[in-house]
Amino acid sequence: MSLIEVKNLGVQFQTNDGPVFAVNDVSFSLERGQTLGIVGESGSGKSQTVLAMMGLLALNGKATGEVLFEGHNLLTLPNTDLNRIRGNRMAMIFQDPMTSLNPYLTVERQMTEVLEFHKGMSRREARARCVQLLDAVKIPEAAKRIAMYPHEFSGGMRQRVMIAMALLCEPQVLVADEPTTALDVTVQAQIIALLRDLQRDFGTAIVMITHDLGVVAGLCDEVIVLYGGRVMEQGQANSIFYQPSHPYTVGLLGAIPRLDQGEQALVAIPGAPPNMSKLSAGCPFQERCSLAEPRCATVRPPLSPAAHDPAVLRACHKSLQNIAAIRQQEAQHV
Ligand SMILES: Nc1ncnc2c1ncn2[C@@H]1O[C@H](COP(=O)(O)OP(=O)(O)OP(=O)(O)O)[C@@H](O)[C@H]1O
Ligand code: SF4
Ligand SMILES: [Mg+2]
Repeated sequence: MSLIEVKNLGVQFQTNDGPVFAVNDVSFSLERGQTLGIVGESGSGKSQTVLAMMGLLALNGKATGEVLFEGHNLLTLPNTDLNRIRGNRMAMIFQDPMTSLNPYLTVERQMTEVLEFHKGMSRREARARCVQLLDAVKIPEAAKRIAMYPHEFSGGMRQRVMIAMALLCEPQVLVADEPTTALDVTVQAQIIALLRDLQRDFGTAIVMITHDLGVVAGLCDEVIVLYGGRVMEQGQANSIFYQPSHPYTVGLLGAIPRLDQGEQALVAIPGAPPNMSKLSAGCPFQERCSLAEPRCATVRPPLSPAAHDPAVLRACHKSLQNIAAIRQQEAQHV
């Protein structure tokens, strides 16, 4: 049995303008110690996918499908049971640490409280464990700094404190929603390296959300590429990076800023993401796809095994050969 099995997860929001179909038919499984990357542009449904898994949707949202954690469906679990799992066996790191850290309490008080509550430790035992964890996430002089307030830490250090807090109860699953976006590139790389080490040492499974394929390259085993709330391509990270077989993934890979070429190399995908309150009949990417043909507007391509690699799932009417040909043409024009 997989640690987590998500089956046909959907998220709908009721709004004054009608329903918003934020996530549709997302399925994946996650094993112990594995990392899944969820990538896609802003508004593609990344955060709502994981918030639904954690039972943290806004009040106007409803999740459908199944999220099985060790065999229990989290979507139908009573709140008391869910609370026992959340923060304890499944933890989440948000983009901005200040949204989760209390500015009025020292880091020590915020961390020890969790262990006293969830693990029944004494304050003294809890403190010793917290210092150990701050050491593990490479906070220098952890024993001294634990007495500081969040604002006394730099942005990168605060993010490490958040990671240490998320790891307090040694969760089996760590969900990280763009944990490095607000940080500069060097600190980003340090945090990614840190997550990799922690995964090796603790065997934690990670769901890593990012809009940057470059960030997941060194960390993820599996990748889901989302667009307009739907899976465009899904499979082993190596296959997705080295042989992207969906026009949207190809576009995203082209949109990675290359350090050696500065900002100039950032190639945005032309056009804007779709309006999710009007689900079109065809492919969600049709309006921005240079390969679109008439049937793309009327028939939604099913997510199905790719001919070149059945372990890769893709939702596109065109074959990989078409896409390879387009890439070649584009390369000749650069
Ligand atoms: N409470 C809400 N009511 C209505 N629509 C919502 C609500 N919350 C989110 N949405 C919509 O759900 C869609 C998916 O949002 P989501 O937060 O998952 O995007 P994302 O991929 O995480 O983007 P970003 O990279 O900007 O964080 C968006 O179109 C968003 O406007
Ligand atoms: S189905 Fe059509 S519009 Fe969608 S990605 Fe493939 S070629 Fe482009
Ligand atoms: Mg988000």
